Amino acid sequence: MIKSILITGGAGFIGSHVVKLFVEKYPDYQIVNLDALTYAGNLENLKEIEGASNYSFEKADIQDADKLNEIFAKHQITDVIHLAAESHVDRSISDPLAFVKTNVFGTVNLLNAAKEYWKEDLSKHLFYHVSTDEVYGSLHDGGFFLETTPYDPQSPYSASKASSDHFVRAYANTYKIRTVVSNCSNNYGPNHFPEKLIPLCIHNIRNNKPLPVYGKGENIRDWLFVKDHARAIDTVFHKGKAGETYNIGGFNEWKNIDIVRLLCQKMDEKLGREKGTSEKLITFVTDRAGHDMRYAIDATKIKEELGWEPSLQFEEGIEITIDWYLNNQEWLDHVTSGAYQDYYSDLYGNR
Ligand code: NAD
Ligand code: DAU
Repeated sequence: MIKSILITGGAGFIGSHVVKLFVEKYPDYQIVNLDALTYAGNLENLKEIEGASNYSFEKADIQDADKLNEIFAKHQITDVIHLAAESHVDRSISDPLAFVKTNVFGTVNLLNAAKEYWKEDLSKHLFYHVSTDEVYGSLHDGGFFLETTPYDPQSPYSASKASSDHFVRAYANTYKIRTVVSNCSNNYGPNHFPEKLIPLCIHNIRNNKPLPVYGKGENIRDWLFVKDHARAIDTVFHKGKAGETYNIGGFNEWKNIDIVRLLCQKMDEKLGREKGTSEKLITFVTDRAGHDMRYAIDATKIKEELGWEPSLQFEEGIEITIDWYLNNQEWLDHVTSGAYQDYYSDLYGNR
């Protein structure tokens, strides 16, 4: 059977790298990118492949069940890779309901559409749900999150992602849909929306603006280059076992303050500024409410069972990332001004 894969959230940060990888690597697959183009969705992320014959775009909201049914039928969808979500923890603190609507209600809508459209033979199809390590909660001492670690979400964002993971597994158990879930650590790289720590700091250093470090900056995250996550998603999609969960991570833990200092040093060098200039921008601000202390993924299972591991060292990945932002000022100007949204609503508004 020829694959027609629905990738949701394909105009976002990670989704756009997944779409590009699949469109370029698998010319025989039809790739349908479904995205509502919220503030985080940007079709400029997909410029390289927008004219490809195996690629199409559907502007749709996963909260719209009728539209989902229509898209499954129109493109004869065989598989789903589901990334569409509200993804920013700080926004979930100010507007939790938006996260329930997209991450929980939207995911259940998508499961229903798949269940209905694939009902003749569920065995031929896969629903791949992309999730986060935040569902496991917060580590305070040593140790790592394993696939068997009990869920303990602490923010409205992670509670909504945990809920969506539970629905995916419940649909597998109840309706026998073939599903797979992966839980990944913090991604970084090109096309990352500048509300998140790394792109925000790069943007602010360049513009001599304060670098807001929450609390004492001692919280720890495990960082993975976004293209390595896209490669992992490709691996899990093709080699993963239905019903299984795979943790994905970089084995690369950093305290926030150390990451911010590293960015300052590298940016000083690249911008020809005197050593120490950018560090003066560091500003300690009120901590995030309920701020998770540490995330750390044990990604042994995916390595041993499916043969995936990160390809890039952090030193190399962060260089690529900084250079990408410095060379793509136009992209940053567009996403910070909102101009790209006007442009694309003109382009797609009447479709
Ligand atoms: P993002 O915010 O950059 O992109 C999300 C995309 O989803 C955007 O294109 C947006 O327009 C789209 N979207 C949002 N609401 C929608 C809706 N109702 N209907 C259709 N489309 C909608 O997010 P990201 O950082 O690329 O994350 C993608 C996925 O990966 C999310 O599910 C997230 O939970 C998960 N994840 C992210 C990270 C990370 O570090 N960024 C790590 C692990 C897992
Ligand atoms: O772990 C995976 C998760 O990583 C994903 O599921 C989320 O979608 C993604 O947004 C990310 O969540 P974080 O909250 O870890 O990412 P963020 O970039 O927002 O923050 C990283 C750390 O930096 C966190 O400890 C909070 C801190 N921070 C963040 C911002 C935006 C600051 O100190 N200052 C800031 O301005």
